[in-house]
Amino acid sequence: MQGPWSYYYGVDDYLQSLRIKESIRIEIVCLGNICRSPMAAAVLSARAAEIYPKQLSVTSSGTSPAHYGEGAHPLSEKVWQQAGYRYEHRARGFNSQIFQEADLILAMDFDNHENILKRAERSDSRSKVMMLRSFDKTATSLEIPDPWGLGIASYQEVLEMVEASVSGLLQRLSGDTI
Ligand code: 4NP
Repeated sequence: MQGPWSYYYGVDDYLQSLRIKESIRIEIVCLGNICRSPMAAAVLSARAAEIYPKQLSVTSSGTSPAHYGEGAHPLSEKVWQQAGYRYEHRARGFNSQIFQEADLILAMDFDNHENILKRAERSDSRSKVMMLRSFDKTATSLEIPDPWGLGIASYQEVLEMVEASVSGLLQRLSGDTI
């Protein structure tokens, strides 16, 4: 089963298999890798250090090459810094090697999800791809919308969605059923 809804099928078994690993690597993916995914990486890496007992490494990338090598968008960085997160970022591109390296690949929106899946050559690669927001059981949408070109309030909203999603993700990886 492919497409954005695929995480409903077998996702519990896959997450369960990660719980017994010594370390987990998570890749967060958006379009430009300057707004949403670096913010999510900033939040997840900080929160993981607080509550997750295993070693969890977090990287991020974009499905578009437009911003490779750039730092984070100033509004994204401002919002995560104001919230107390410290994180250094340099944009990079999503590539098929990431399927070998990452245990979980978390997309921000359906376009990212589809573009990641298009690059997966194996079914076990596809089973690693999920929507980050699917871990927020209170969310009314699975997408974290693109704030590019919008004002700081949109970046604040992204932060709220990311924080709720990261909380749910860490609970699931820790074995709590939510
Ligand atoms: P992101 O936002 O995918 O959250 O990093 C965007 C950044 C840049 C562009 C689009 C989205 N862009 O079209 O350049």
